[in-house]
Amino acid sequence: MTDIVKVAVVTGGASGIGAEICRYLAKSGSDIAIWDLNEAAMASMAAEITAMGRRATTCVVDISNQESIAAGIAKTHEDLGLVTIMVNSAGIHATGPIMEIDEATWDKVMAVNLKGAFLVTKAVVPDMEAAGWGRIIYISSSSAQTGSPDMCHYVASKGGVIALTKALAVELGPKGITVNNVPPGMVVTPMLRNLEGNGGIPGGVEAMASRLPVRKAGQPENMAAAVAFLASEEAGYITGHTLSVNGGRYFN
Ligand SMILES: NC(=O)c1ccc[n+]([C@@H]2O[C@H](COP(=O)([O-])OP(=O)(O)OC[C@H]3O[C@@H](n4cnc5c(N)ncnc54)[C@H](O)[C@@H]3O)[C@@H](O)[C@H]2O)c1
Repeated sequence: MTDIVKVAVVTGGASGIGAEICRYLAKSGSDIAIWDLNEAAMASMAAEITAMGRRATTCVVDISNQESIAAGIAKTHEDLGLVTIMVNSAGIHATGPIMEIDEATWDKVMAVNLKGAFLVTKAVVPDMEAAGWGRIIYISSSSAQTGSPDMCHYVASKGGVIALTKALAVELGPKGITVNNVPPGMVVTPMLRNLEGNGGIPGGVEAMASRLPVRKAGQPENMAAAVAFLASEEAGYITGHTLSVNGGRYFN
């Protein structure tokens, strides 16, 4: 591993869990390409990473759009070189009972959360094959492990990500590439607070979290530490795994 340059693409790196993953990966020696839609937040994250002594670039990428991804990978290559780590944290949440979810909303959630994971992976696999080393980590959701009412499109999209992990672990393992996912439970981020604000968390985040075995909500750093471990050389014998980091909400 000593001669592998660690360049990480972090989708959704402008906010919440993805932003913390950028910090953790930079701290463990990676240069970071942030792919997100939020230009201003990406710029401030890039400044943070540069201040930590790592290289950073930002790419306005819609992960559900292949052309947008093509432009992102081209800019990443130009600014940082070949990609050896990819973390897909970008995602959208949606709620509603099945009878109120229309086809367009179903398609949108699938396009970002599941097709996006597929498209971003396709963009980086050739680099990892060339290096003979790679780490792919998806942020899925514990709702896909337990089932969760009134969000079947979201849950199905994240279940697809867990299945994608297994399929690609088998396919890419012989090339030196590991593929894993981390399903958050309840992590305090703008997405979670937004859901809470829309009444999607009965009693609120803190009340619901107080019923978890660890009695508190998760923080982005809990997720980022797990991701940094899976991205490390030491985790090279772990693949196809779903690493639950959820305060005990679900385990098997
Ligand atoms: N926060 C939680 O409790 C929780 C629970 C389960 C799963 N998750 C998952 O964790 C991941 C990160 O969530 P978060 O809580 O940090 O949310 P967040 O909303 O704080 O951050 C998500 C980021 O993704 C970006 N994004 C959205 N759509 C995009 C697209 N099409 N292309 C590129 N970027 C896009 C947003 O601009 C934003 O910066 C998501 O995949 C989410 O589904 C979060």
